[in-house]
Amino acid sequence: MLPEHRFISDKPKFFGRRKGRIIRKAKSVLLEKFLPRVQISESAPLSKENLFDFPVREICLEIGFGSGEHLAGQALAHPDIGFIGAEVFQNGVANLLSLITGIKEGDNLPEQISLLPGRTDNIRIFADDIRLLFQKMPDNFLDRVFLLFPDPWPKKRHASRRFINPDNLRELARVLKKGGLLRIATDHKVYKSWTLHQMHQCPFFRWTATCGNDWKHEPADWVQTKYQRKAIREGRRPVFLDYERL
Ligand SMILES: C[S@@+](CC[C@H](N)C(=O)[O-])C[C@H]1O[C@@H](n2cnc3c(N)ncnc32)[C@H](O)[C@@H]1O
Repeated sequence: MLPEHRFISDKPKFFGRRKGRIIRKAKSVLLEKFLPRVQISESAPLSKENLFDFPVREICLEIGFGSGEHLAGQALAHPDIGFIGAEVFQNGVANLLSLITGIKEGDNLPEQISLLPGRTDNIRIFADDIRLLFQKMPDNFLDRVFLLFPDPWPKKRHASRRFINPDNLRELARVLKKGGLLRIATDHKVYKSWTLHQMHQCPFFRWTATCGNDWKHEPADWVQTKYQRKAIREGRRPVFLDYERL
């Protein structure tokens, strides 16, 4: 445990949206019937063995997976890795369930809902604020963390709401293994400068970029997200910042 580590308050304040448009029939059934099968149990201690039914090579976490495209794509590409996805927004969780089961609005719902053929059962979902899961996560638990297009909270008076902040960085440093990766993507100018500054101040991480190409272009195993596509449509160029846990 890092010397400076301390538990954050039990119920951290969350400022984003928990629900959006009405969740229609198929997705509500997925939330009710399929989510419990892939959801992280509140009561069991967090361990590789408790999370996955087979031995996994690594554990990766995606924080705020949105509609789940990147998480679903990574999990399909790496069947031997276990993925934890955390998302507060219920509509996003429902969308990820739709991606991994193939069930869409208007489909006839099968008696038994299962993963799409060819998919490994390597995704576990935490449908709440990741900071609550950090409280029960052991040290050195994760190999990679993805934080893609976090809410920028661009106004100065909202800066304390930004996910990249000293408290969360301390937690990320605690739960990431040495040599592990923290990947942050953003399309927002304010958030980019904020992140570069915060990360520069943080003694636990090293920026791995050696030239502009390293952070202005998508990494090799990248899967585009909804926010990224929106940013590109609107003329903003995302950056991809990879940090190594020292
Ligand atoms: C701007 S969206 C980006 C979504 C997705 N990563 C993408 O690129 O399309 C940020 C997401 O992070 C989620 N989020 C923000 N803070 C979170 C937290 N503390 N724990 C889990 N999810 C969080 C929000 O609910 C929101 O869906």
